[in-house]
Amino acid sequence: MAENSSMIDISRARQDTPGCEQVLHFNNAGAGLMPRQVVDAVTGHLQLEADIGGYEAAESAHEAVERVYDAVSQLIGCQADEVAIIENATRAWDMAFYSLPFKSGDRILTSIAEYASNYIAFLQIARRTGAVVEPIPNDSNGQVSVEALESMIDERVKLIAITHVPTNGGLVNPAVEIGNIARQAGIIYLLDACQSIGQMPIDVQEIGCDMLSATGRKYLRGPRGTGFLYVRRDLIEQLEPPFLDVHAATWVTKDRYEIRADARRFENWETNVAGKIGLGVAIDYALAWGLGDIWARVSSLAGTLRTRLSHLPHVQVHDLGLQKCGIVTFTIDKQDLEEIHLKLVEQKMNVHVSRAASTRLDMDGRGLAGVIRASVHYYNSEEELDRFCDFVARMI
Ligand SMILES: Cc1ncc(COP(=O)(O)O)c(C=O)c1O
Repeated sequence: MAENSSMIDISRARQDTPGCEQVLHFNNAGAGLMPRQVVDAVTGHLQLEADIGGYEAAESAHEAVERVYDAVSQLIGCQADEVAIIENATRAWDMAFYSLPFKSGDRILTSIAEYASNYIAFLQIARRTGAVVEPIPNDSNGQVSVEALESMIDERVKLIAITHVPTNGGLVNPAVEIGNIARQAGIIYLLDACQSIGQMPIDVQEIGCDMLSATGRKYLRGPRGTGFLYVRRDLIEQLEPPFLDVHAATWVTKDRYEIRADARRFENWETNVAGKIGLGVAIDYALAWGLGDIWARVSSLAGTLRTRLSHLPHVQVHDLGLQKCGIVTFTIDKQDLEEIHLKLVEQKMNVHVSRAASTRLDMDGRGLAGVIRASVHYYNSEEELDRFCDFVARMI
């Protein structure tokens, strides 16, 4: 069994996580297991809604709702008025992307590992406006080539939009180095931090991104249907969101509306208040462990898993990049991915099958139809790693 030298009290983390008693959960990049603190906050608010009414419950939970903005600002190093809480990472990203005015000939630079929803949006805007989308080649480590990016910059580049950690592997793109180039060139930089948030420290000042989108349910261990968007203060009022409502704007006279000045212009009025409160609690819970300690534990566990799987005959590990995160992907020679998945499900071992259509440029480029994605978190144990690797070995 691998040794546990983590700063994190694993037994407390597991006691806080009821799901640990039910399943071996290596699907944290799908949705992390919620700690009971989050579950209690969500169910408590739902109960309050049932008891006193939804509007009245929201009123009495005002502080907890406002706390979510402060929690996000603490998590990523921004101001609370630069944060919008949005129902998922895709919509958060969309609200940022579709606010940007593109015209014919504008260039959008993106990563090879870009997520399908983002790329579909690029293609839609390209078709509508004549803007062009150009993937930045990878370097020899399989991550965005900073040199290639530098050489692609010209006055037509209007956006650099990068996926920090892709859905389909352990790669961590060099977000800070990309930020340096974007800043020097004065180009807007949108970072999709959906898969990285909650597993590693993220500081928007250090990264130098102008906008960042994230989800609540994955490594942050929040409820499903939660996410957020960060927009740099001096950019907010330059951007008109693609949708406006009574929360994002005020109808001031018969023919006129005014858009609010803070990042909440990217939100809409009706929201899952219980989920939003749960997101705040999940972020506070992560902050209490410390993102540095979480990252140390996650990357070490994943590193061990990667090494052990790569030593098994007929197993191919597929993670790219210089620095790798908590996502470990593999295939087994001549074995069908769905069958592997089913066998693991029977053992109550949760993983995900990541298919080419989610990250087409990357997967097609590597000739991969799919991979098994095992994504670990700090509350996973060394014993679980042993059990998982032993079972995979028996499958071969
Ligand atoms: C890189 C990346 N971006 C965005 C998303 C979408 O996140 P959400 O489901 O919260 O909209 C995912 C989901 O897997 C993802 O992997």
